[in-house]
Amino acid sequence: MAFLFHSDAERGAVFRDVFARELPDLEFFQSGRGVEPEKVRYLIAWTVPDDISRYSNLEVLFSIGAGVDQFHQDVVPQHVKVVRMVEDGIIRMMQEYVALGVLALHRDLPSYLEQQKRCSWHSIAARQASERRVGFLGLGMLAQAAIAHLTPFQFPLAGWSRSEKQIEGVACFHGEDQLAGFLKQTDILVCLLPLTERTRGMLNAQLFALLPGEARLLHVGRGPQLDQAALIEALDSGQLAAAMLDVTDPEPLPQDHPLWLHPKVMITPHIASVTQPHTAARSVVENIRRHRAGEELIGVVDRTLGY
Ligand code: GLV
Repeated sequence: MAFLFHSDAERGAVFRDVFARELPDLEFFQSGRGVEPEKVRYLIAWTVPDDISRYSNLEVLFSIGAGVDQFHQDVVPQHVKVVRMVEDGIIRMMQEYVALGVLALHRDLPSYLEQQKRCSWHSIAARQASERRVGFLGLGMLAQAAIAHLTPFQFPLAGWSRSEKQIEGVACFHGEDQLAGFLKQTDILVCLLPLTERTRGMLNAQLFALLPGEARLLHVGRGPQLDQAALIEALDSGQLAAAMLDVTDPEPLPQDHPLWLHPKVMITPHIASVTQPHTAARSVVENIRRHRAGEELIGVVDRTLGY
């Protein structure tokens, strides 16, 4: 029985060490190194390898990242479980980045950065956190972890998810019917949705129009969820005051894309949260132990929903 690591060699070396220690009876293959396909029960990858059908005894396909939208699921046999990465490093980094982004947008950082370029010293009337409503689109594990780290600042917190959720201290909205009500009371919108057919293009002109004037967007979901032209229009018309984007479409944006130099936009290159190999390897080991014990895995994807 074997585990196949199909990703970068550096992270692979860390996984190899952790697996040798924690699961010595499981053979460890790294892509391109003497793989015996019929032995492979577990496979970790960022994208589904073209030759996945060689692994005829594959039982679990792990994503090396938090998302699974990059997997073309139609080539993954139906009986194979698909599991997204749930590990402390990703969670902690997302908590940091969302706190960074929400505070930057709350405290008008894009305007101050712009002023600095003009050597201009000018204060903007500051709103108190208790008067700035922060709303999360998507209330999955990463959003809930980020929310927990925002609570000390006293922002009124809300969230919207497809299915009903209850989170202490958070006004929870769900389903299509409650989306408009959620948006109308959101001053800083944080997108942490998975990319699915439903969420593709969801951050569009119609959605922006439902936000209160001068709202702000923090986008840490996936690039294709955002209609970038609609964002520029909403920023230029003043409907939105600022945006911070960690994801774009494409990545990177072309050199001459207007978002790069837009005075109300801050961009980071998809670094909000990155899988940390030591903690990731331990979380995959734990999932393999669960799988062998016939227990529920952590992070299993509902393949009909796509997340
Ligand atoms: C990054 O976006 C990931 O999915 O881990």
